[in-house]
Amino acid sequence: MIRAALATAAIAVPLHLASPAAWADPLAPGAAACLACHVEGGGLPDLATLSPQAIEAALAAYRDGTRAGTVMPRLAKGFTTDEARAIAESLGRAGAADR
Ligand code: HEC
Repeated sequence: MIRAALATAAIAVPLHLASPAAWADPLAPGAAACLACHVEGGGLPDLATLSPQAIEAALAAYRDGTRAGTVMPRLAKGFTTDEARAIAESLGRAGAADR
């Protein structure tokens, strides 16, 4: 179910539309799916405004249930800690907000 949603999301918003040239190339596996929802002006936090550490911590908190959410808890459970770290490093920006 989540995999299907991710695949659809990745198709619906091609990377080049999601964020022009701002992301590391290549992105970590799974990271492109994040940009389907977290697009600039899409109403969700722009992941490039967060540090890799903040994204990794948020994913861990969603995964273990200490942070509530509608989508992210389910999504975060789909990644190992290593995968989540690689995604966070792909999408986060060093020196960005550490919350
Ligand atoms: C289907 C849409 C969707 C996808 C795909 C998605 N997110 Fe989210 N994200 C959300 C929503 C909605 C929230 C708000 C919390 C909630 O309701 O789950 C959120 C919140 C977050 C937050 C918290 C931001 C903040 O400042 O509070 C982080 C970090 C985050 N997502 C990272 C990611 C990462 C990394 C991925 C890819 C693995 C991802 N998201 C994929 C919808 C999505």
